[in-house]
Amino acid sequence: MNQPPPMPEPTHKPLDMMSLFQMVQDLRGGSDDGILTHEKLKEIAASKDVPVSHAYAAMVFDPGLAIDAKESLTIAICTGRCQLFGAIPLLEHLIETMEARSAAGEGGFDIVPRNCLDQCDYPPVMISRSSAGICSHRYAKIEDANELLEALAQDG
Ligand code: FES
Repeated sequence: MNQPPPMPEPTHKPLDMMSLFQMVQDLRGGSDDGILTHEKLKEIAASKDVPVSHAYAAMVFDPGLAIDAKESLTIAICTGRCQLFGAIPLLEHLIETMEARSAAGEGGFDIVPRNCLDQCDYPPVMISRSSAGICSHRYAKIEDANELLEALAQDG
């Protein structure tokens, strides 16, 4: 039987859990049905004077909240324990890229935060879903996200 690889040492400090919990109530009030747009997340994060990545990370504390996903490409990212291994800078890069693409009228994608993607031995983890299929990205780095988006743009 294959043994999981040794867990790497944490490389990043996690976000403050209490402030994320405190944001959940605002997120619940952000829509009647729990479906939140990126713009609404930005608005709520701005009202707390924190980056929008914090609003994405706070969403995972209420399973009734979901992203208003409209694109054919979604990138799920673990913002649970994977925070200790760089998930938040990766999420912030994805957000910046998504906004830049949207501003340029290029192919968009949706970012879906998750508390765990069941591949905890390989942090941080992203899972992409597109017309090309579903792909896990273990030990995901910013370069991996860029490569993924470039490859899918060429396919699309
Ligand atoms: S904690 Fe990140 S995949 Fe499980």
